[in-house]
Amino acid sequence: NEIYLQGLAGNVPPFTTDPGKLEESARQRLGPGPFWYVAGAAGSGATARANREAFDGWRIVPRMLTDATTRHLGVSLLGTDLPAPVLLAPLGVQSILHPDGELATARAAAELGVPFVLSTASSHTIEDVAEAAGDAARWFQLYWPNDPDVCASILDRARKAGYRVLVVTLDTWTLAWRPHDLDQAYLPFLRGVGTAIPFSDPAFRAGLAAAPEDDLPMAILRWVQLFTGTDKSWDRLSFLREHWDGPIVLKGIQHVEDARKAVDAGVQGIVVSNHGGRQVDGAVGSLDVLPDIADAVGEQVAVLFDSGIRTGADIVKALALGAKAVLVGRPFAYGLAHGGQQGVRHVLRGLLADFDLTLGLSGHRSPAELNREALRPRRAGA
Ligand code: FNR
Repeated sequence: NEIYLQGLAGNVPPFTTDPGKLEESARQRLGPGPFWYVAGAAGSGATARANREAFDGWRIVPRMLTDATTRHLGVSLLGTDLPAPVLLAPLGVQSILHPDGELATARAAAELGVPFVLSTASSHTIEDVAEAAGDAARWFQLYWPNDPDVCASILDRARKAGYRVLVVTLDTWTLAWRPHDLDQAYLPFLRGVGTAIPFSDPAFRAGLAAAPEDDLPMAILRWVQLFTGTDKSWDRLSFLREHWDGPIVLKGIQHVEDARKAVDAGVQGIVVSNHGGRQVDGAVGSLDVLPDIADAVGEQVAVLFDSGIRTGADIVKALALGAKAVLVGRPFAYGLAHGGQQGVRHVLRGLLADFDLTLGLSGHRSPAELNREALRPRRAGA
């Protein structure tokens, strides 16, 4: 209502409310380096395109006279009540986009009560972002270090700083072929990464000959080695369980068998995600694998979804296909680039309002009412 009223009062929004124009608008604001750090994808970009095409493969079938004038968007997820089934995805080195980086994002998320998942590759410390997050639920994303001491130290810091849910990203045990990053020699990334979490970690610093500030290229190389590893396995997840007492969510699941293994490993949730198309080129659209995975394990673990969410209709579709909640990535990064905390708030509020309206206008009063009857597959050629 507030957004409509502002419009009626002649107050033009700070930047576009059109999700289709957001990327182009950010491109005009950002230099090519920071822009492509966000917009880029693996290889030919086929997976990122497949993510969007997958949404286009479903159409919502609205129902009438269902008394959906009053709606409740809230959901309970892993023991936390959320105002809507939406979270901000973990995105690394956000200071590339705005000097306040993750602090701005955490503050905007907190204003709306939406959890922000803090990345291991954050450009601000675990502790500073925790403070910025105020009373909002704190989730921490782990890139799983090979060194058990560094891993335990990072988890310990996250726990002490009040993060309760641990999201373990499995799909990035090495960085994919990303032409946009390679073509600019990772420069924007390197400029933003100097303050990243591992560099401020005592266990990581202890393993370096010089302070990271004094030998940044060597520190970055060590850091890359720390996360590039093959010693991880389904069995080794027990190490994380020993060092984390809250819910654990595995991010990057795309195969039904892996979803079943996650259940067997005793975790509480999974994110059906292909990293926004930034890891495996030529992979299946993330939404295409969601229904089978939700059917297989949706009763046993919380099934979350990301990769390609841009609009309220996209959220409706993902929930109708079995997701309990969705994570959104690039759109809020573009908001951050436009105006720090206010920019993230503008994008997030727009997305939530769009979801609320699409949910209601399609005849639903709450996320719980959504199921596959709300959708119809798009017919070939339609
Ligand atoms: C990411 N993603 C990501 N994931 C993660 O687990 N840790 C991280 O540090 C990052 N960093 C990151 C940076 C940037 C610039 C992007 C675009 C993405 C992946 C992210 O969490 C999420 O899976 C995707 O962004 C979801 O796809 P959409 O919403 O961007 O299409």
